[in-house]
Amino acid sequence: MTAPAAPTIRVATVADAARLVEAMRVFNREEGITWDPVAGRVALDGLLADDRIGVVHVADDADGALAGYALCTFGFDLEFGGRDAYLTELWTAPARRGAGVGQALLAAVEGAAATRGAGALHLQVRPENAPAVSLYVTRGFEASHRVLMTKRLPRP
Ligand SMILES: CC(C)(COP(=O)(O)OP(=O)(O)OC[C@H]1O[C@@H](n2cnc3c(N)ncnc32)[C@H](O)[C@@H]1OP(=O)(O)O)[C@@H](O)C(=O)NCCC(=O)NCCS
Repeated sequence: MTAPAAPTIRVATVADAARLVEAMRVFNREEGITWDPVAGRVALDGLLADDRIGVVHVADDADGALAGYALCTFGFDLEFGGRDAYLTELWTAPARRGAGVGQALLAAVEGAAATRGAGALHLQVRPENAPAVSLYVTRGFEASHRVLMTKRLPRP
């Protein structure tokens, strides 16, 4: 059997929202993250409609199936000269893993973030997630010796 052709990587639009939410359900379940798809859809719609917030990439297979997606949002930190970027989600469909989709999506995110003026791309990864850690190290990411701390805030 021949391997499927490399998917097309492109910036997502609002028309991709429904299929992205289905993929995000799988991503969050795999990552053990409690995620509300209704609130998530509202936030995703806002992101897809405003490229000042960030950029979402999708990998489309020739048959229209979603081979993967990557979500990147922007922050601002003087340490990195102003705008910086966060890879908040990267996911390859299970059947398409190990074929370069994750690497292609990550390269697209790096390019898009740099083009939009980000001085650094950050990410979080569970240390036991060997495929992801290997991908990130291969692409030049280095662990920070800082501890990420989070406090949830009430919404107005
Ligand atoms: C992590 C993930 C995105 C990798 O996507 P992928 O499309 O399978 O990755 P690629 O085929 O592009 O592989 C790129 C590199 O990743 C690493 N990698 C991928 N799968 C691996 C595996 N099973 N074991 C070890 N390293 C692996 C390798 O360094 C590989 O480079 P190589 O092919 O030259 O060895 C994918 O496994 C995934 O979606 N996992 C579930 C969601 C997740 O963990 N996302 C990251 C959260 S931080």
